[in-house]
Amino acid sequence: MDLGLAGCTGVVTGASQGIGRETTWALAREGVRVAAVARGRDALEDLADEVEAAGLARPLVVPADLAERDAGARVREQVVAGLGGVDLLVNNAGQADPPAAELDEDAWRRAFELNFHAKRMLAEQLRPLLAVRGRGRVVNLVGLLEPVGVSAAQAAVAACILWAKGFSRVVAAEGTTVNCLAPGRIDSEQLRRHFPTPASRQAFADAHVPAGRFGTPSEAAAVVVFLCSTAAAYVTGETIAVDGGMHRRA
Ligand SMILES: NC(=O)c1ccc[n+]([C@@H]2O[C@H](COP(=O)([O-])OP(=O)(O)OC[C@H]3O[C@@H](n4cnc5c(N)ncnc54)[C@H](OP(=O)(O)O)[C@@H]3O)[C@@H](O)[C@H]2O)c1
Repeated sequence: MDLGLAGCTGVVTGASQGIGRETTWALAREGVRVAAVARGRDALEDLADEVEAAGLARPLVVPADLAERDAGARVREQVVAGLGGVDLLVNNAGQADPPAAELDEDAWRRAFELNFHAKRMLAEQLRPLLAVRGRGRVVNLVGLLEPVGVSAAQAAVAACILWAKGFSRVVAAEGTTVNCLAPGRIDSEQLRRHFPTPASRQAFADAHVPAGRFGTPSEAAAVVVFLCSTAAAYVTGETIAVDGGMHRRA
């Protein structure tokens, strides 16, 4: 299938590891010039070196802490200077947190800054650029909404999903689609902090994941790439789970 991505430009946040890193690779393989955003410059430079060494367009390295209030505007400036425009935004940077009972007020607010406001802010900043070629795409990495207890990150993700639905209706006439992808358990660096051993991962999968295993970052990235493609032009305002059947909602 021709995904219609060759020659596009895109921004991937949280690009230095896990799902964001695989998404950067997957988009680069489709001919997308990617601006790779995260806090750590060294990991982004290593990624850019590796992608370039593979004969693909070198990603633009954009170090930024997206939890800072002016980060969206600064990222936009660097992306315009480095890429000239933006067709795709993959709002992937995000972080889970310990149970909310252990969180103080500042931690609650930080959870919303990164998992909600940063995504909204960057999409608003890039909206005019996404509209230029009439094929804009926003994909937000969120999470499953089936709480076991109270989680600040999950509450922020719920806000993101509702905002994304509204935003998708506002920008549809500009040719921009807005979707969310909800990973279940994808075997990334973040997940390995919660499930450090193969036995702990397998025990969780046996109990909760019908597919019987965690997913891989590239399995999540493949769905992001599809949502960015011209083939997905009529899919908008959706939240798609990539979870091996984990969520129970029908
Ligand atoms: N893996 C899963 O099973 C799972 C499940 C549910 C939801 N998700 C969501 O899916 C997304 C990707 O997950 P992942 O597991 O691949 O994450 P990960 O391995 O923890 O990677 C997170 C990425 O985000 C960057 N990042 C973190 N805080 C940032 C900040 N303040 N500003 C800019 N960049 C920041 C990190 O780089 P730096 O540290 O250098 O900034 C890193 O590149 C996240 O939004 C996560 O919440 C994942």
